[in-house]
Amino acid sequence: MKQPYQPSLLRLIHAATAGAVGVGWLTGLVIYSNYDGRLFHLPWAYGGNLWELHEYAGNLLLPIAILLALYAVTLGNWRLHKPSNTVMLLALALPLLSGQGMHKKWMIEGQFDHLMYKIHLLGWMLIAAGLIWHVASALQRGGVALVASMADLQVKEHDNPTDWPNQIFNWFGHHR
Ligand code: HEM
Ligand code: HEM
Repeated sequence: MKQPYQPSLLRLIHAATAGAVGVGWLTGLVIYSNYDGRLFHLPWAYGGNLWELHEYAGNLLLPIAILLALYAVTLGNWRLHKPSNTVMLLALALPLLSGQGMHKKWMIEGQFDHLMYKIHLLGWMLIAAGLIWHVASALQRGGVALVASMADLQVKEHDNPTDWPNQIFNWFGHHR
């Protein structure tokens, strides 16, 4: 099958989201294992300071995720007819919003009963489950070619960063 072409603006925002989610998810996993660990323990404990990296990834993710959501409800709207794409957006909101009410003090003092903490963990699990579905759904619909198209680095003529404003204006021009 011929590899589909994804707009460069979507590829950039999507890759930045996936990267920041990845760092947040993995640092969260280690923090969970170090402090909570009721469900599982990693075989090793990481002694370093992961809060800062976790907060950094989370704070970076917030504006990027808003951009992805804005893109997805406008220019990428037709892709949201695939439920697995919409679920990823919704799942992102859980750890991002609950993160604003999280405190590292809870981890150190073992206070795992806070509602915000439970929502934060739920978001973490939903993202993992959602991502499996997200990728499986893309594989089923377009195979490796579709999945790879999202990570492709080629940029066609008329799809450079200087073309993004035009693409956005055109979209709004047609959907007024
Ligand atoms: C997809 C996974 C996750 C994402 C996207 C995420 C995102 C965030 C965000 C945006 C914040 C707020 C940062 C700030 O402004 O201070 C935060 C804070 C926090 N997260 Fe996560 N998180 C995830 C998973 C986890 C997991 C599994 C744990 C472990 C139990 C965890 C523990 C914490 C803690 C303790 C804080 C508070 C940090 C502080 O007060 O300094 N997170 N997270
Ligand atoms: C973990 C963070 C991720 C989030 C939040 C996310 C979210 C999204 C969203 C919202 C869309 C629809 C965009 C639009 O409406 O224009 C999308 C499309 C897509 N994503 Fe992701 N994604 C993530 C990770 C990944 C990963 C790791 C892969 C590949 C391994 C991937 C592959 C794809 C593909 C192939 C499409 C296009 C599918 C289609 O046309 O239906 N995504 N993603």
